[in-house]
Amino acid sequence: VGHKKLVKFAALKTFENVLEFPENMKGNWHEHFGNNNPIVLELACGRGEYTVGMAQNNSSINYIGIDRKGNRMFNGAKKSLELGLKNAAFLRISIEQLTDYFAPNEISNIWIIFPDPFLRDGKAKNRLTHYKFLYAYQQVLRRDGSVNLKTDSPILFDFTNEVVTETNCKVLQKIENIYSEGEAAFPLSIKTYYEGLHLADNRIIKYIQFQLPQNAIKIPPKKKVITDDSFLQNMDNG
Ligand SMILES: C[S@@+](CC[C@H](N)C(=O)[O-])C[C@H]1O[C@@H](n2cnc3c(N)ncnc32)[C@H](O)[C@@H]1O
Repeated sequence: VGHKKLVKFAALKTFENVLEFPENMKGNWHEHFGNNNPIVLELACGRGEYTVGMAQNNSSINYIGIDRKGNRMFNGAKKSLELGLKNAAFLRISIEQLTDYFAPNEISNIWIIFPDPFLRDGKAKNRLTHYKFLYAYQQVLRRDGSVNLKTDSPILFDFTNEVVTETNCKVLQKIENIYSEGEAAFPLSIKTYYEGLHLADNRIIKYIQFQLPQNAIKIPPKKKVITDDSFLQNMDNG
């Protein structure tokens, strides 16, 4: 671990707006914020540009940026302290652990901003719009809440659309190119670190907003991939 990272890790521990693998927070976030305002999550927040940007713009909603990398959230957490934002917090956990940290209906909306696309088919289960994650979101998100995905990846976007269709999610908005008519409307206009890289690369930025279905999402069994070896073996046996 480099020196810069160690300095950030140490600072993070002193930030009152950062919670690293905290205990007893499930169902208790309203006490942390000191009010009963709705809670919105930014998953894979990195430097937390959406958490900071949306919190600045809407003081009657509480925002929590979630990432497993502490050195990245340092930037957003520091900025949010400097701005004196009382309605922004940062939670360092793996998104796989979401249901350990939030109770049913505790969350009003979910934003997923440029998550890693995991381009290889074999890694699709790590995509944050995979069936298994939508199932987890169902455990914490209010029924009238929405999931919002911003991405530059056609593979992740197509995959998400497929999962949304298969699970009977209700699409509220779908935009193939958020800058086709100039600047996007807030909060889509907030640009993150990764978005900057993608725009410099002339990539097209996509957005989809959807509601989860009423019934429990079923996680389909893994498709069996026939590898050359097993194929040949079957041929031998047959
Ligand atoms: C490509 S970056 C995007 C960061 C930021 N939203 C942006 O647009 O600049 C993806 C982030 O997701 C985080 N991440 C990926 N999978 C995660 C998981 N399962 N749990 C927690 N964080 C995760 C990574 O640590 C990384 O910071």
